[in-house]
Amino acid sequence: MPCDLILALDVPTREQAAPILRQLRGSLRWVKIGLQMFTAYGPDYVKAVADEGFQVFLDLKLHDIPNTVAKAVESLAPLPIGMLTLHTLGGREMMAAARQAQQQTKPELLLLGVTVLTSMDGTALNEIGVPAAPEAQVGRLGELAVSAGLNGLVCSPLEVGLLRQRLPASVKLVTPGIRPAGEAGSDDQKRIMTPADAARAGSSYIVVGRPILKAKDPAAAARAILAELGA
Ligand code: C5P
Repeated sequence: MPCDLILALDVPTREQAAPILRQLRGSLRWVKIGLQMFTAYGPDYVKAVADEGFQVFLDLKLHDIPNTVAKAVESLAPLPIGMLTLHTLGGREMMAAARQAQQQTKPELLLLGVTVLTSMDGTALNEIGVPAAPEAQVGRLGELAVSAGLNGLVCSPLEVGLLRQRLPASVKLVTPGIRPAGEAGSDDQKRIMTPADAARAGSSYIVVGRPILKAKDPAAAARAILAELGA
């Protein structure tokens, strides 16, 4: 199954993002706009990145009562986005409400459920009252999300094998927590894998931020990952 790269555009200013995007036009397809850039620049920046020819993954990780999340999906529907995230911890009713709003306003949008953040390990889950190990919790939340109608999941590459066994092949699995071989340190990510291993495990997309953004030549780092994926 082919696996594509999504660049997590986690930089403070659009001026810092501009040269990276300019150099990657034509080779990179997907850019993820997360809380940092959306909070700073809002919907206009989503349009600006799409106007540069990129597909936009808007990673807002919505998590609220069903009505509020559904209304947020409706408000976001006019934007040129191809993927949007919500937290599966919001529960079945919240995910189903989001799904209904998406079907009515933007049926082509991939609605992705965040399972367990890749920055969390078993100890962190226990601290918030979840006795399950990360894999078990991801399996449980993944099945719930798909049964509530979501098109895909965000999980660690370490859980992709288990999810591929349990879920229909059409479910998109998007995996952050990627660290190229030889990368020093994993920042705050706990459950990690290399790009090639994540692709082999069955990820539909890998999300990479700091290993590209902190490189001396971010565009070259992104191209190296694309080459590793055979994309
Ligand atoms: O810099 P790094 O490659 O660790 O960036 C990973 C990106 O993926 C960040 O933008 C982060 O918000 C996002 N993410 C994550 N874990 C999840 C969901 C999203 O790290 N479960």
